[in-house]
Order: sequence, then C-alpha cells, then structure tokens
Amino acid sequence: MPSNQTTTGSLLTALCPELRTALTRVGYDADTLLSALGPDVHAALGRSEPVPVRRAARAAGELGTLIRLLLLGDALPEREVAAALAPVDVERAVAAGLLARDGDEIRAALDLRPLDAGEGSRWILSDLDDSMRRRTLTEDHVLGVGHASLSLLRATPTRPVGSVLDLGTGCGVQAVHAASYGRTVTATDVNPRALWLAEATAALNGLDIELLEGSWFDPVAGRRFDQVVANPPFVVGPARIEHTYRDSGLALDGASELVVSRAPDLLVPGGTAAMLAAWVHVDGEDWRQRVSSWLPADGVDAWVVQRDVADPALYVGTWLRDAGLDPRDPAAQARAEQWLDAFAAADVAGIGFGFVYLRTIDGPTELLAEDLTHGFDDPLGAEVSAYFERSAWLRAVAGDENLAWSARFTVPQATALERVFLPGPEGWDERVARLHRGDGPRWQHEVDETTISLVAGMRPDGLPLYELIELLALAHGFEEVTPEFAADALTVVAGLVRHGLIAPV
Ligand SMILES: C[S@@+](CC[C@H](N)C(=O)[O-])C[C@H]1O[C@@H](n2cnc3c(N)ncnc32)[C@H](O)[C@@H]1O
Repeated sequence: MPSNQTTTGSLLTALCPELRTALTRVGYDADTLLSALGPDVHAALGRSEPVPVRRAARAAGELGTLIRLLLLGDALPEREVAAALAPVDVERAVAAGLLARDGDEIRAALDLRPLDAGEGSRWILSDLDDSMRRRTLTEDHVLGVGHASLSLLRATPTRPVGSVLDLGTGCGVQAVHAASYGRTVTATDVNPRALWLAEATAALNGLDIELLEGSWFDPVAGRRFDQVVANPPFVVGPARIEHTYRDSGLALDGASELVVSRAPDLLVPGGTAAMLAAWVHVDGEDWRQRVSSWLPADGVDAWVVQRDVADPALYVGTWLRDAGLDPRDPAAQARAEQWLDAFAAADVAGIGFGFVYLRTIDGPTELLAEDLTHGFDDPLGAEVSAYFERSAWLRAVAGDENLAWSARFTVPQATALERVFLPGPEGWDERVARLHRGDGPRWQHEVDETTISLVAGMRPDGLPLYELIELLALAHGFEEVTPEFAADALTVVAGLVRHGLIAPV
C-alpha cells in the first residue's frame, strides 16, 4: 500500500469505476476466461504452470493481455497494457498501487482475478502470491482466494439473512460472497493492508461493505449479527506472527479456541456461525473433548466437522511451502525445527482441521463433532441449515418423546439401502447392510434387519412411528412393545434423522 494512503477512499478505490469498465469491456470474467483458455489450459493455471497459459493468452487479444499481466505476472509493453485497461490511466494505476513500472514495461503490483462462487462473476484484489513467480511472502501479505477460502465459501449457508460479519476479511472474498445473501455486511481485519484491498474489492464489485480495522472482536464490541463467517489465522504452531494471514500470535490452536469460544457472543438468538478451525490431537486426549471445552455451557448448538488430520511433519512442510519457503533451505529448516519442537513439547500427535458451525439456542450447549474425511459432492452450505433444523427437532423430541411416536417420516430419494456380500464357505455371505445418503455429506449408517423393516414401512401418509414399531414387535413375536425395544428404536430413528437419512414430516 503506498504510504500516503489511508484504508478509506484510497487511490486504488478511486480507480475502481474505470477498472470495472475495462474488465467488463474485455470480458475478464470467470466464464469468458474459461472459454478463452479452454479447460486444459485453465487447469494448467491452477497447477501454477505459466507456459501453456501464456501460449493460449497470446491468441486471446486484450483478454490475453490481462491474463498475462494479472494472472501470470508478465511485464508487458505500456502501450499494450494501456489499450487492454482503457479507460484506466496507466500512470494513475501505478500511483494507486495496482501496476508497477519494470524498466520500460509494466507489471501488475497486485493480483486481480475473477471468481464465480455461484452467484455470478466477481473480481477479487489481493497481493501477488508465488503461484506463477517465486517470491517470499511479507508479514502483512494479503492472501488471495486459496483452497481454504474456497472451502469456506462452499461450506457457508447462504439462506438470506439480515446482517453478516466476516471476521478477518483479508482481500474481502467471504464478505463479497456474503453480500449475495446478507442484507448488510461488516468486515474486519487487523491488517490495514487487507482493509485497503477489501475496500477496493468491494468498490470493484459495486458493493457496500462496512470495513472496520482492529483485532478480533474489538471493532464490533457490543454488536450482534445474524451470521458470522470466519477463516481466521488458525495455523497451529508456536506463539509467533510471521504472516498475519495465517499466524495469530497465540500458541497451538489458540486462535481457533478464541474464535469458537467468542463467536456465540456475536450472534443474535438463532444466529449462525460458519468458521474454519484447527485443533491439535494430543496423545491420550479425545479431540472432540478439546473442541467441546471451547464452548460455553449454555446457548449453543455446535456441529464440528473434521475434514482431515495431518501429522506434524506434513503440516509444517505444507505451511512452509505455502509461505514460499523451500523446506531444504537452512532458514526454513531452522523454522521447521522450532515448529516441530513446539509440537513435541505439547505432545501434539496430529493437527485436525475442518468446519465449526454454531447456532445460538435457548438451552444447554449441544455438540456433535464428527469426521467427514470421505468425499462429498454438494457444497456443505445447504446442509448446515438443514442440520440445525433436524437438530432442533431432536431437541424437541428429547423434551417430549410423544412428538417422535406420533410423527410420520419420509425416506428421501437420495437414501439407498446397500447390502455388502463377501464370498463365504456356502457362497455369498451377507456381511453388512447400510443405509447411505447419495447427496450432501454422503453419510452411511450400518443397519440391522429390524431397522430395514422399520424404514421400509415409513410413508409420509402412513403409520406414525409408534404404530410401526408395534407391528415390528408383533413380527418379532412380542405381544407388546417393551420399553427397551422402544428406546432402541428411538435411538436408531434419532441417528437417521440427525444425518438426514430419514426426515420427520
Ligand atoms: C486466513 S486469512 C483469511 C482471509 C479471507 N477471509 C479468506 O477467507 O480468504 C486470515 C485473516 O485474518 C486476519 N487476522 C489476523 N489476525 C487477526 C486479528 N487478531 N484480528 C482480526 N483479523 C486478524 C489476517 O490479516 C487475514 O486477513
């Protein structure tokens, strides 16, 4: 950020109306880019291979010039840049920090790329990363749209809400997405450079986003929101800040603990938080207990989804490379030593990470923490709202079992019964039967024959649950439903409802 600028009303923001005109005129949007490059070359862009992209861009006119300038970081003749970016004045763009002079040529000083997260193409301004040119990232580096940013975008519920808070907005990517489902959007960051870029990103997309500078919850003290999204600097390691985008200065999983434990205070009753977080796995300790200890005793329904667990060496190597360091360099080796020492001192056996969803409720806190390490097709965002609705129904049933006994259920189209046979001494031997969901998180439940019969009898206009289990009890030779039989049936039904394999009507 040029030193004479503030984070509000910068030269960069002032440039955005003309920049928008140029990008629209040239067709610098997600769809046009894909069709100009073709899927194979577009994939090469994602793999950080500049040559195929440069070759395709040479035949793509002014769009090709912008691809080379903004996505590959090539230095290009000023005349060519001026034509592709018209009506933007190149001198003003240099003064604003968007472009830089390189001898007689012009380079991009920022990353500017289109993104379509499902509600049309948007543009995101961020710092240049090392995907196309080797560079070491500065402490105040502002991250572009990385894998973590995209995974949170896809995993965020997008039902229309009033107010949204994006905590640690960086380049503003989550805030821009939030503007498609939130009536008002507030975004905070501790890094002034991030707010400088987020402000320009908002202006470029014609969005009105409230931007506040400050650490964690300070800028929004006393305020509450309908939805909070956060991709915090959750990288687990020693207490230090080498890069603001990933380090919090808190030891180990302290950043995740802080955000998860304080997020409920930022939500209105019934509000939802969707966050990325990480937690250490310590020998002899259950990771679920650790995350559970971060939550208040009352007022929260929490769904924690662990996507993966990395071993310490893999974790450190990955994050060193992410910052543009080569793990073979002596300086990187010294960092790795220090990092792995910190893990060893805390008995860290692995680092789990994933999504934390919170909904504020009236009552004692509830937590479901589970692994979702298998693949799933659909974005998780839509599942989140459905999960909390199912959870609310189960809470009501826990207070009054009759709600369940009198309920009718549907079996969604995506639920299928799978029987697995293995070769045995007498031919095919059935080993296991599973109900599984073919959509969303693709949950699977092992089921016995009683459950299979119970689910087979479920109809939206059929018998209520209690009558179904009475029939089942008769079929098993009992004259009446024993309390144990009823309790077992209710436990099975609750588990299937929780994962959306059946649904109360
Ligand atoms: C992983 S980046 C996420 C950026 C963006 N929201 C995204 O999803 O790509 C974390 C962001 O949190 C910001 N941050 C770091 N420490 C913070 C703090 N103490 N308070 C608020 N924001 C902080 C960083 O500057 C950075 O922009």
